[in-house]
Amino acid sequence: MAGLIPKDFIQDLVARADIVGVVESRVRLKKAGRNYQACCPFHNEKSPSFSVAPDKQFYHCFGCGAHGNALDFIMEYDGLEFPDAVEELAAMLGLEVPRETRPGSKPARDKAEVEDDFAVMEACAQFFARQLKENPEKERVISYLKGRGLSGEVVRDFCIGYAPKEWDSVLRKFGGSRKQQDQLLALKMITENDRGKRFDFFRDRIMFPIRDRRGRVVGFGGRVLEKSEPKYLNSPETRLFHKGRELYGFYEMRQQHKDLERVIIVEGYMDVVALAQHGVTNAVAALGTAATTDHLQLLFRQTKQVICCFDGDRAGRDAAWRALENSLALLRDGIDLRFLFLPDGEDPDTIVRAEGAEGFNKRANEAMSFRDYFFEHLTAKIDLRSDAGKSELIAQAKELIGKVASDFYRQTLMEALANKLSRTVQELEKLLPNLNQGKQRAEKPKGQQLTPVARAIGLLLQHPELGRLIPVHNELDHLDMQGVKVFMAIHRQTHEQQLSSAQLLESWRGSRLEERLRQLASWDHQVLEDNLEQEFSETYVFLIDRYLEQRYETLKALPAKDMTRERLQELNELVRMMKRS
Ligand code: UTP
Ligand code: MN
Repeated sequence: MAGLIPKDFIQDLVARADIVGVVESRVRLKKAGRNYQACCPFHNEKSPSFSVAPDKQFYHCFGCGAHGNALDFIMEYDGLEFPDAVEELAAMLGLEVPRETRPGSKPARDKAEVEDDFAVMEACAQFFARQLKENPEKERVISYLKGRGLSGEVVRDFCIGYAPKEWDSVLRKFGGSRKQQDQLLALKMITENDRGKRFDFFRDRIMFPIRDRRGRVVGFGGRVLEKSEPKYLNSPETRLFHKGRELYGFYEMRQQHKDLERVIIVEGYMDVVALAQHGVTNAVAALGTAATTDHLQLLFRQTKQVICCFDGDRAGRDAAWRALENSLALLRDGIDLRFLFLPDGEDPDTIVRAEGAEGFNKRANEAMSFRDYFFEHLTAKIDLRSDAGKSELIAQAKELIGKVASDFYRQTLMEALANKLSRTVQELEKLLPNLNQGKQRAEKPKGQQLTPVARAIGLLLQHPELGRLIPVHNELDHLDMQGVKVFMAIHRQTHEQQLSSAQLLESWRGSRLEERLRQLASWDHQVLEDNLEQEFSETYVFLIDRYLEQRYETLKALPAKDMTRERLQELNELVRMMKRS
């Protein structure tokens, strides 16, 4: 794996990037006063509620709540993970991303080496694709593909190919030197036996290149043509390929669609390809695993509706429930996860060939809601007429519902659970006392409900220039009040450096507080520009007063023997100051 990206570089990148330029490279913006506007690229809308603020270097959608800095925008819009978004933004600004190594870790591979890996993988994909024209076996291969209903066009779109029968065709073609062979071995395009003999990993198989989000080949799936085992051979994990992160067909799908109403996750390579053949071009496949949280998160950045589609066998049912468990932490308002179970013995490939796109889409439209599947699965083996059954359901549901991040989803599930048990939600809540203490509650902070410290943090995040106006009062470090430590940290940051909101937030990425700070950064404080400074200093005075009071109480509570002359003086001073304020 490449080394870590230095934090300084990321900060510098965010400082250099212009959010307007970055957004404009993907979305057409219109000037509106000091800001820029557009219809939100992250949800469907007719009138623009997506706004980009050049002074804050921030975007915010008043409709769906999407918000962030230039890096967030690239992550969301391009569907990239953080390091890839950094690469992308750096590339836009013509910068190289430096990598650092942690002491004791393997030295970082340099960029040229990583690029060479990708070049080799792409060359292999092209080599396999060419075999459909050049290999002596091409008739057999092409008739297999035709037999599965694939046209030349779809074969080309997915760069499907054939790995020759010989034990050494990749080895001979790309492994001229020992060094090149070592690279092929690391990328698992060749393999080595106990005696050190090296040969091709994939032989006599239909080859499906797996591309990452940026379209780079990271691995392959290879299918036998005749019945034999294993049916599919997949690239093992390598320095490029991480199975739980990649989705087969994701890149190809993004090539076809900028806006996706829904995405369907299917089980197999052939399912994705066969669906595309029939015009259903919004399908991807998890590679032999259940959809992971990473997969689902990636997809929910692209679309509001994800349908997990499963073959109607035992393995499909298991994979579905695991996908559901993996989704719990992600579910939030406006996100729609559904489950589609095909009849026993069928898969999307057979269905779309028998019923066409129309038939398949009809089934997709009728997919089961998250809630229905949730309860269907939980109650399948429980007798709800007995008290024991009811408590069993409550116990199981309780654990799962507690992991749901969004109030909306939790509420819906609670209502449904109450319904099943013929009780009210209030009664249930009494039975499930810790349910409402779910870890991450995705509430939008409302102005009135914020504590003064939270208000002060919010104001600083949105108007970092306020931090320069007021000196840092170090004594507040000793104020015992929730959030003060963070407030002080941010005040020091903004007092010492000239930071934009975007840079400020960037420095908290990955911290436990990131989500909370993001909320505060897009909280609608409703303070008029002219009153900002006063509002902020009033909060400051409030904090100092609390500190004086706390200190006064502490000193006063001291036993007489500890009341030194200095402390007595301080106490008198405190009384004087408290009278003044
Ligand atoms: P399926 O057996 O449903 O394959 O496995 P499929 O895609 O429908 O293939 P066809 O139609 O028989 O050609 C679903 C997925 O599970 C993984 C592959 O990713 C496959 O696409 N798999 C299956 C393996 O990795 N190895 C295997 O031996 C079988
Ligand atoms: Mn199949």
